[in-house]
Amino acid sequence: MLKRTHMCGELRSDHVGQTVTLAGWVNTYRDQGKGLIFIDLRDRDGLTQVVFNLRDVDEAAVNEARSLRREDVVAVQGLVRTRVGGANPRLATGTIEVAADKLEVLGKAETPPILPDEHEAEKIAEEKRLQYRYIDLRRPRMQKMLRTRHEVMQVTRRFFASHGFLEVETPLLIKTTPEGARDFIVPSRLYAGKWYALPQSPQIFKQILMLSGCDRYMQICKCLRDEDPRADRQAEFTQIDLEMSFVTRDDVLAIMSEFITTLWSEILGVDVGEIPVLGYAEALDRYGTDKPDLRFGLELAEISPLAARTEFKIFRDALSKPQGVVKAIRVPAAAGTLTRKKIDGYERLAREAGAGGLATVKYTATGYETGIAKFLEPIADELAAQLALEAGDMVFFAADTRAVALRVLGELRVALGRDLGLIEDAFRCLWVVDFPMFSYNDERGRWESEHHPFVMPREDQIQRLQSDPGGCISSSYDFVINGSECGSGSIRIHRTHIQKKVFEILGLTPQETQLKFGFLLEAFKYGAPPHGGIAFGLDRLIMQLTGVTNIRDVIAFPKTQTGADLMTGAPGPADSEHLKELSVRVHLPKRQIPEPETREPKP
Ligand code: AMO
Repeated sequence: MLKRTHMCGELRSDHVGQTVTLAGWVNTYRDQGKGLIFIDLRDRDGLTQVVFNLRDVDEAAVNEARSLRREDVVAVQGLVRTRVGGANPRLATGTIEVAADKLEVLGKAETPPILPDEHEAEKIAEEKRLQYRYIDLRRPRMQKMLRTRHEVMQVTRRFFASHGFLEVETPLLIKTTPEGARDFIVPSRLYAGKWYALPQSPQIFKQILMLSGCDRYMQICKCLRDEDPRADRQAEFTQIDLEMSFVTRDDVLAIMSEFITTLWSEILGVDVGEIPVLGYAEALDRYGTDKPDLRFGLELAEISPLAARTEFKIFRDALSKPQGVVKAIRVPAAAGTLTRKKIDGYERLAREAGAGGLATVKYTATGYETGIAKFLEPIADELAAQLALEAGDMVFFAADTRAVALRVLGELRVALGRDLGLIEDAFRCLWVVDFPMFSYNDERGRWESEHHPFVMPREDQIQRLQSDPGGCISSSYDFVINGSECGSGSIRIHRTHIQKKVFEILGLTPQETQLKFGFLLEAFKYGAPPHGGIAFGLDRLIMQLTGVTNIRDVIAFPKTQTGADLMTGAPGPADSEHLKELSVRVHLPKRQIPEPETREPKP
């Protein structure tokens, strides 16, 4: 076999005169006739033009070159020369070409079902690209993604190793991790009728590592959660998981801010600046969400006291409800740009987010017009002053319970920012802190952890666990970048009595607590240091770093929307012998379950 000397993106004018050997895939071929054939040879580094000319090689080689087709794998030896037909400025290797004198076909390709051409990729159904992932991954953009992912992992390991973190692996076959999703479970052959859970995260193990004296832990680990995938969510995803002993919240935020700054600087050469810290309640009030996109303004305003002075029934009805509010969003200079159709679309969005409707008004040089203008007369000047209105602005109002009003205007804000082109081309990071410990699940009639049950209340809030769990503020923090939650963590409970109290609030009986977490409570008895940590979503960080909006585009072998792997055909049936050994019997539901291959919704 010809031995490769260079990569296909490597050769430049300085290599002219050298004999080289390249190996790769045939990206394009052109038969010019008269014994002259051009191919572009591709590997993960780029493309090089290779010329077969009857004047330089024997006829057999030219004939073999003539038989080459897209995606054949070949090795070519030849002389590097200045490109005879003139330089191609679009190629990094565009000033040279290789005049081939030897060709070896290493792997003949049948006509490929898809081609790894960037300009074609969007026209190919995603399910087809996932089925033939090995071809799709040959695209330059996908190669770049693999490289970025690799570099992010390298920077991560270097950064944390240099700050004293030890990389420790934690097991995949475990008991359970209460991260809020459903566990994937694995039957045990040796313990008939018993099941392992796959980790939703290494949460309990990293805490146990702190009890073990590890002091600083990191791991780039797989997490498995049996939940429906979304644009930024996969059932199987990767975390950069971290834990530290003897730290306060601010210690964790400081080192993690430094990590993010280093990552952005080393991967993109971008300075993300100082990362601000925002309270959860303030984030909700100003942006309607706990993961605000700070690349644009359009902040929400609370106008309940003014709204109470109008005769507008919808405002008044909302304000008479418990937790009722009227919130508004001022959209500068939108009166002339937002069409009726767009505004109707926003009304639909508001209804889908749970509102009864969406009140609007335009502000002009002569006052309020259209929509609910007539109702605003009693508060005209004060509203204009509070919202700092200028002629040409529009205002949208949400009147509902606080939760619904915030959700509606939070979603509307993002849609408006996008539609009006207000989103600046930048990275805006922030820490959101002071989350509540619990939220009440009305359907189930019980408290649930806002994050997970191991989160410590903020030091000054511990007493409230007893008196006012709903008002108790936690020590947790989220890392948000451009509106995406890319990390989450907290200071942990390390005292048995507080942990027991939290389990009790969550409705676990002492027996259930013992069964599920007895080992952890026991471990706390034998010397537990105060500790805290965080997990970053690696896939989400890569999405931000590469500017893609679909999580499947940053994972080498992702699952579809319905959790199927179209390339291997997983999930598939298990053979009956195997099931017998596991003491597992399968009862299929009556409704037909489609095969994974056909489950993906057609685009
Ligand atoms: P959490 O569940 O918030 O916390 O996860 C941490 C971060 O992981 C990412 N993430 C996901 N990414 C892709 N697909 C998913 N299904 C998915 N779920 C979560 C998010 C999220 O911010 N053990 C705790 C961390 C800790 O307390 O230290 C945990 O797993 O970016």
